Amino acid sequence: MATDFTEETAADAVIESFAKTPDPRLRELLDSLVRHLHAFVKDTEPTIAEWEQAIEFLTATGQKCDDERQEFILLSDVLGISMLVETINNRTGGATESTVLGPFHVVKSPRRELGDTIDLVGTGTPCVVRGRVLSADGSPLPGAELDVWQANDQGFYDVQQPDVQPRTNGRGLFTADDKGEFWFRTVVPSYYPIPTDGPVGELLAATGRHAFRPAHIHFIVTAPGHRDLTTHIFVAGSEYIESDTVFAVKKSLVVDFNEVTDEVLAQKWNVGQVPFLHADFDIIMQPGS
Ligand code: BEZ
Ligand code: FE
Repeated sequence: MATDFTEETAADAVIESFAKTPDPRLRELLDSLVRHLHAFVKDTEPTIAEWEQAIEFLTATGQKCDDERQEFILLSDVLGISMLVETINNRTGGATESTVLGPFHVVKSPRRELGDTIDLVGTGTPCVVRGRVLSADGSPLPGAELDVWQANDQGFYDVQQPDVQPRTNGRGLFTADDKGEFWFRTVVPSYYPIPTDGPVGELLAATGRHAFRPAHIHFIVTAPGHRDLTTHIFVAGSEYIESDTVFAVKKSLVVDFNEVTDEVLAQKWNVGQVPFLHADFDIIMQPGS
C-alpha cells in the first residue's frame, strides 16, 4: 500500500489495493475502471464544486429509479453505452443485427394469428409488415416466435396512455408458418421522445440535444437452436433517423415502408383501404443458444 499519495502514483496505488481480488474478471474490470477514471480526472481536473455536481447528478439518477423507471439505463442509452455493449455481445457475421430492448416491453404481448392486426384503435396509416425468419444458411425456421411491440401513430405506447389506448394495443406474439413466414397488420408508428422528466432530460437540455427516437417497431425473435434476437425495424425516411437519441439505428435495420394502391393487394392482406404501406423484412437468426 502506498504511504504517500501523489497524483502520479494514485492510480497504481488503488489498482494494487485490488490485487488480491479472487475473481480474475472482477479484478480486470476494476483495474481498467480505475485506470480510466483516474485518467479522466487528470485530463479534466474538475473543481470540488464540479465533482460535487457530478455526484449529485448520479444521486438524482438513482433516486429517479423505481419498479417502472430505470434512469440509469436511460443514461447508459443516451451515452451510447447500451448500444456499444449490445453490439459487442451480438457480433452477427451476416445475421440480422440487434438493437436495444428499451423500457416498453413491460406487458406480455397477446398471442395473435398471422394476418391479425396489432392496432386496436384504427387511426393512423395502415400498414402490413411481412417477412421470413431464416437460419444463417437460408433455411426457413417454421414455428419461430416473434414478439412485436410499437408506439402508436402519435408516438405513445399503450402503457403510457392507459386511459386512451386499450391495453396491449400495438403488441402481438406471432408464430411463423411452415415456410418461416410471418405477416401482420398495424399502423405506421410515429417517432417519439424518451422520458425527459428526470436527470437524463436535464442532461439533454443542458447539451442542446433532442430527446427523440425515429419511428420503429420492436421485435424479439426466438427459434429453437438459435440465439434470441432483440431488434427493431426503423421506418426509412422517419424524422430523427439520422440522430436517434439512443444511437440504436443500424443501416441494415432501416426498412422501406412502400405505398400500395392496388385494391387486389388490399384484399389479399385484409387491409380495409388503399393506399396502405407495406414493409418487407427477412430476419436471419444465428445458430447457437
Ligand atoms: C424504446 O425504443 O422503446 C426506447 C429505447 C431506449 C430508451 C427509451 C425508449
Ligand atoms: Fe421503442
